[in-house]
Amino acid sequence: MAAADGLCTELPMWVTNAWYVAAWSHEVEPGRLLARTVIDEPLVLYRTAAGEIVALEDRCCHRFAPLSMGRLEGDALRCMYHGLKFAPDGSCIEIPGQKLIPHSACVRRYPAQQRGSWLWVWMGDAAAADPAAIPSTVALDDAAYRLQAGAIDYAAHYLLIDDNLLDLSHLSFAHEKTLGLDMPQWADERPAMLPLERGLRVQRWLRNHPPRGFMKKLGERVDVWNSYDFLFPGIFLQRTDFHPAGTAERCGGGAPDTAPLFHRVDEQAVTPVGERTSRYFFAAGARAADIDPDRVGRLFAVTETAFHEDKALIEAQQRLIDLDPARRMLPTSLDAGPTRFRRLVDDLLAGEGGRRIPASAVGSS
Ligand code: FES
Ligand SMILES: [Fe+2]
Repeated sequence: MAAADGLCTELPMWVTNAWYVAAWSHEVEPGRLLARTVIDEPLVLYRTAAGEIVALEDRCCHRFAPLSMGRLEGDALRCMYHGLKFAPDGSCIEIPGQKLIPHSACVRRYPAQQRGSWLWVWMGDAAAADPAAIPSTVALDDAAYRLQAGAIDYAAHYLLIDDNLLDLSHLSFAHEKTLGLDMPQWADERPAMLPLERGLRVQRWLRNHPPRGFMKKLGERVDVWNSYDFLFPGIFLQRTDFHPAGTAERCGGGAPDTAPLFHRVDEQAVTPVGERTSRYFFAAGARAADIDPDRVGRLFAVTETAFHEDKALIEAQQRLIDLDPARRMLPTSLDAGPTRFRRLVDDLLAGEGGRRIPASAVGSS
């Protein structure tokens, strides 16, 4: 149940009725099997000859060998321990040396979709899986943008990474030499927050900022409009628009009504793997008209360096939480985003009932 401050004292382990990002689409190559774990459930991903994504439980129903150690035979997957063969719908279609195939001979198939450049899997009731609920994202090969992509494995609970993304004040400190360079405004100005279904919209102006490097061509000072939607379980869809200084004032602190000088795109997904493991997918870049391939490479390199700064801090934070799980955190005004999102997650978890974990996994205040 949620504590009065919104940080949880006890949580079900996982929300299952949700779309989770399991992989970049290029990670599932034709004819190959990819093993991934999402919310503690082992999956094997592959493509049919028609390119459709298949996500099956990565555990043969016979003696529990991983199907990801098997082999593809056309669109079917054969377990290479004793040879049971499965159709893309998870049903067993062959048992060596046995004619009768019982109904119970099957593995679970998870609804799976490719959208943009991510492969999404639905981990709950298949009848409730609605592909229209998957948020739209920019594909890596969209000619209107130049984006680069990566992924980082974390030894930390996914909600600690969500906390980080919901409180960008940390850019001024954790990233003082990378993303937060010369921008104390990240920490000094509180953003506006709007509720979304299963998430939050976070918006702010960073006023009178002196651009650095190749961005100097934009002018001596710019106003930066930063807006992102953050959706369960950790989908971060951010646009950062650079405008002439004075735009924030002219717009009364609201959303800009003119085209930006420079339009940056950051799209990220946090996927829980297990209770202390997560995978962080990210793409960063800009409108193609604003940046050349060399500069997008440099922009991405700085961004990736910053994400390793986050990883070092968050994994160390997780170790200290685990060292003294009863120790309570100090709430501040910086925590509004994380607190609201934890409350939302708590509601989703309560809606499904089920397993609960102690708040000690992710801290409480
Ligand atoms: S464990 Fe798969 S066929 Fe025996
Ligand atoms: Fe960060």
